[in-house]
Amino acid sequence: MRKQIAAANWKMNLSYAEGVQLIDKLIAEGIAPAAQQQVLLAVPFPYLDMASQKLAGQSGYAVAAQNCHQKASGAYTGEVSAPMLASMGLKYVVLGHSERREYFREDDALLASKVDMALSNGLTPVFCCGEPLSVREADAQNAYVAEQLRNSLFHLSADQMTGMVIAYEPIWAIGTGRTASAEQAQDMHAWLRSVIAEQYGASIAGQVSILYGGSVKGSNAVELFSKPDVDGGLVGGASLDAVDFAKIIRALK
Ligand code: PGA
Repeated sequence: MRKQIAAANWKMNLSYAEGVQLIDKLIAEGIAPAAQQQVLLAVPFPYLDMASQKLAGQSGYAVAAQNCHQKASGAYTGEVSAPMLASMGLKYVVLGHSERREYFREDDALLASKVDMALSNGLTPVFCCGEPLSVREADAQNAYVAEQLRNSLFHLSADQMTGMVIAYEPIWAIGTGRTASAEQAQDMHAWLRSVIAEQYGASIAGQVSILYGGSVKGSNAVELFSKPDVDGGLVGGASLDAVDFAKIIRALK
């Protein structure tokens, strides 16, 4: 069975002390994820080591970076590479978040090279995709998101695709309080799985975890995650509250 994943995306939030406290509170919730469940905390770079140490003894929990550079090393002041993340023992990196695409001009081709760099260093990308409001209003979201996958992922081998984690995050639902309905999420996830199946076959498509992101909360996670193709969530705002994020973890299948 493919992994069911609750991923916290802290973005550029919290002081170091607040981050420590949030992880302590989350651990105190005492959730033991089942074998098919995975909890990820995508924390800011300077907190990766702290978070890794705190979660070291917690099975089913792992730390993720929120980005990495497309090159392995070199004169790129201020950047962080995939080999650096791997050398800290990390296993996951979020790539292609809509905020990176919008504010840092990350396009599909650049993201394809970041995905390659992550995979070649043993990191699993949590690859984000999703359409802006104008595309949804024109009912053109299926073609738009499929194109994002084709451009950034479909050069991968079957083996590489098998371990992929995709996060569908409609931009109009991020941080807006306006969640996609469970039906809208299911429709898109089923569509994306069919697009992957067309390229890689149904068996591989069935092993790709597809998370939903965009105003996931403790109060709507059960309904969203109950859908057959929604394999968990990538959670921004609600992941900054240990009690609410714990509810989201408990909502995983
Ligand atoms: P949100 O953010 O949960 O605050 O909408 C989700 C995300 O951007 O990953």
